[in-house]
Amino acid sequence: MNTLTKTQVGLSKRVVSISESETLAINARSNELKAQGMDVVSLAAGEPDFDTPEHIKAAAKKAIDEGFTKYTPSGGTVELKKAICEKLKRDQHLEYGPENIIVSCGAKHSLFNAILTLCDKDDEVVIPVPYWVTYPELVRLANATPVFLKTREENGFKINPVDLKKVVSRKTKIIIINSPSNPTGAAYSGDELREISKIAFSDGIYVISDEIYEKVLYDGLTHESIASFQKDQTLIVNGVSKSYAMTGWRIGYLAGPAPFVAAMNRLQSHSTSNPTSISQKAALAALKGSDECVTKMVQAFEERRNYIVDRLNSIPKVHVRKPEGAFYVFPNISKYGVGSNKLSQRLLEEAHVAVIPGAPFGTDDHIRLSYATSMENIKKGMDRIEEFFRKL
Ligand SMILES: Cc1ncc(COP(=O)(O)O)c(C=O)c1O
Repeated sequence: MNTLTKTQVGLSKRVVSISESETLAINARSNELKAQGMDVVSLAAGEPDFDTPEHIKAAAKKAIDEGFTKYTPSGGTVELKKAICEKLKRDQHLEYGPENIIVSCGAKHSLFNAILTLCDKDDEVVIPVPYWVTYPELVRLANATPVFLKTREENGFKINPVDLKKVVSRKTKIIIINSPSNPTGAAYSGDELREISKIAFSDGIYVISDEIYEKVLYDGLTHESIASFQKDQTLIVNGVSKSYAMTGWRIGYLAGPAPFVAAMNRLQSHSTSNPTSISQKAALAALKGSDECVTKMVQAFEERRNYIVDRLNSIPKVHVRKPEGAFYVFPNISKYGVGSNKLSQRLLEEAHVAVIPGAPFGTDDHIRLSYATSMENIKKGMDRIEEFFRKL
């Protein structure tokens, strides 16, 4: 057994200050139990259960066969950057050139590099709560300070501009907006973003707009980007992971002002260099191809969302709002008086259902369930959850 303390191991303060991703940790624990023969239903995954569409896989196979297996420019190929510009024009009506685009190894990598490119010690980054677990850790890795902005459930977990104004200061460097949101599924309308933009775009502040769930929207809603109100101070982060069931391919991208993109490219060129050449060809096929595959996946997600929301709301003392997008539900379990960590642990050990506690997302009153799994699994998981709460 390794008994060395963190200091003895010689780890940097930077790494000691961050914690392991709890979402990945729960997945690992649930897989461990499965490997021991336990029948665990996992409602923890943060990725579509669908396979990557055939035409995308075919493009990757072709890239290998044709020897497209060497280094590319570190910020991505020009043809992929152009396809991203076309996508942004088509879907968001925003004009960008290849000099405004950088391709990275997943949206998480785009976020990491963007925050590192912008932040110095003492800079503040405003993060609305509940937040995706990775944001605060990325800010800490950059030696900057996360400033948490609470949102209210009765306000759909959306930023109230008056509250935003109170936390913005001269130290604010970045405001993060994630729509549709992980974990709440909340998606902002154009009008809501306009109100936020009036406060967010003060001098010297960038908005990072994490739009990775852009295409996973329900009830006929269309995606809106805050970049429509002030493109020069917005860094759009997106990718192909969630929309095209391509989580393992690791392609994300950022669109922003050319001088910023050039600086981020310098950073990337000395760390990872280019994202995988083969995956870039696959992403190109995804962005240039038909979105029919996306529509089918989203239809399945919507059906599951409706089912899981109804089942959760029928459990006494549990309340969940219907998410507008992404593939998570975020029920409030506070009336049971058991914290989210304990509750998730007990759900796993006693009911054999893996969910993610709300605590690492900034609220102990909730748990996160993913419905990016088959309807059969969701039904089985919900039967067990219902039974668990009945006995609690
Ligand atoms: C809100 C949010 N942003 C970014 C990412 C990262 O996506 P990628 O797989 O492209 O790195 C995730 C993945 O879970 C996410 O939930």
